[in-house]
Amino acid sequence: MLDKDIARVIYTPEQIQDRVKEIARRINEDFAGEQVVVIAVLRGSVIFFSDIFRNLTLDCEADFISVGSYGKGATSGELKLKKDISADIKGKNVIIVEDILDTGKTLKFICDLLSQREPKALRVCVLLDKKCEKQSEVKADYVGFEVEDTFVVGYGLDYADRYRNLPYIGELKTDIWRK
Ligand code: PRP
Repeated sequence: MLDKDIARVIYTPEQIQDRVKEIARRINEDFAGEQVVVIAVLRGSVIFFSDIFRNLTLDCEADFISVGSYGKGATSGELKLKKDISADIKGKNVIIVEDILDTGKTLKFICDLLSQREPKALRVCVLLDKKCEKQSEVKADYVGFEVEDTFVVGYGLDYADRYRNLPYIGELKTDIWRK
């Protein structure tokens, strides 16, 4: 039923799972023998986060953060913290898991906030890195896929809070989001 709004499948569930396993393998290697706090950025990253998290063999904690802009349709682009993490990350290894790096504003805000708390290491893991003008200098350490500057949904990514449950990553038809 949701499929009819999708112009094309960009990444299939199998391609996503292969990439998830590869990223998790690299994280397991990079942090071998260490403890890690893995933080999901709500809400878009929860499906990617769950898949990454269950493939980690490290001693890890799961935590959650939520940021959003001031007011609905706010154009200032100013972000605020809506839900903070519970863990004390001072001296700990932290990996932030996000669904998409678009302008980079969200990750910049989160990285600035968490780095003030003096973690031992702070790494960024994104499912998708969108090829577009970045408004911040944030770079991801682990990237699932690069995507063109189109409207992508599925596997956690939404348009108006819909399509998150699609098992693949797809391009939303233009007439849906231009309505
Ligand atoms: C989306 C996405 C990222 C952010 C990326 O979140 O999930 O968090 O935008 O954009 P940026 O790089 O330009 O900051 P959204 O605010 O739509 O919330 P959601 O995760 O609940 O979908």
